[in-house]
Amino acid sequence: MTEFDKSHWAEKDFSNQYLEAADIYIVERKKLLEILKSFYRYFLANKKDNKILDLGCGDGILTQALLSIDKSISATLVDGSEEMLAKAKEKLSGFEGISYVRSSFQELPQKKELFSNFDFVVSSLAIHHLTMNEKKSLFEYLYSRLNAGGYFVNIDVVYPPTETLEGWYLFLWKEHIKEAQAKLGVEGNYEDIVDRYKDNRDNKPDTLTEQLKALKSSGFDEVDCFFKYGIFTIFGGKK
Ligand SMILES: C[S@@+](CC[C@H](N)C(=O)[O-])C[C@H]1O[C@@H](n2cnc3c(N)ncnc32)[C@H](O)[C@@H]1O
Repeated sequence: MTEFDKSHWAEKDFSNQYLEAADIYIVERKKLLEILKSFYRYFLANKKDNKILDLGCGDGILTQALLSIDKSISATLVDGSEEMLAKAKEKLSGFEGISYVRSSFQELPQKKELFSNFDFVVSSLAIHHLTMNEKKSLFEYLYSRLNAGGYFVNIDVVYPPTETLEGWYLFLWKEHIKEAQAKLGVEGNYEDIVDRYKDNRDNKPDTLTEQLKALKSSGFDEVDCFFKYGIFTIFGGKK
């Protein structure tokens, strides 16, 4: 049994619940995707046929966003969950050049489907399920799998630097959920996701500072945080 199989993500109901409510409780989800697309347009769209790796793809929302601006890309979508990969296949059924790999992040180096190189590695809200040591190993592995000049962009939640700031960031998150519910006209108590996030042993966020440092130590250049809203961030670097 892998670490992934022991997590809640291995349960079908858990992944379905995430997909149903993600637009409510992912802070600024649309904006996160718009920033990712802008990054792609600015740094990668000057070249055709880019090879993308989407880690913890869920239902394929990131790859779908990138395909909306460049149909020439080919993408490899990785997830530990068979259900999520099935949803991604459904969402991206109209596109060619997409392959799907069921794997936990910890097993990636052994997967021969991934023995090629990529121009752009993306991930959203998935890598915080790894411990800091596993994150470091993953960043080193991703650096080795990128073509020279390629980029890694990670959309993820991070651990706040102080308890005081954590208190505010979680409050800010609850406020955002209430606003999203009002905008989407959805009733019910979705704010408790914040407490569930804190209590869930599968969530192992590390600070942004530590992760930026780990990216630099893995060899990445142009390392920075590209967006931040409470615990929600976009960060990455270039090979
Ligand atoms: C919060 S969802 C995000 C899905 C999608 N990227 C999005 O932004 O909507 C996290 C995804 O990461 C996958 N995941 C979590 N831990 C993983 C691991 N250790 N190895 C592989 N996949 C993992 C889950 O199955 C799930 O699809």
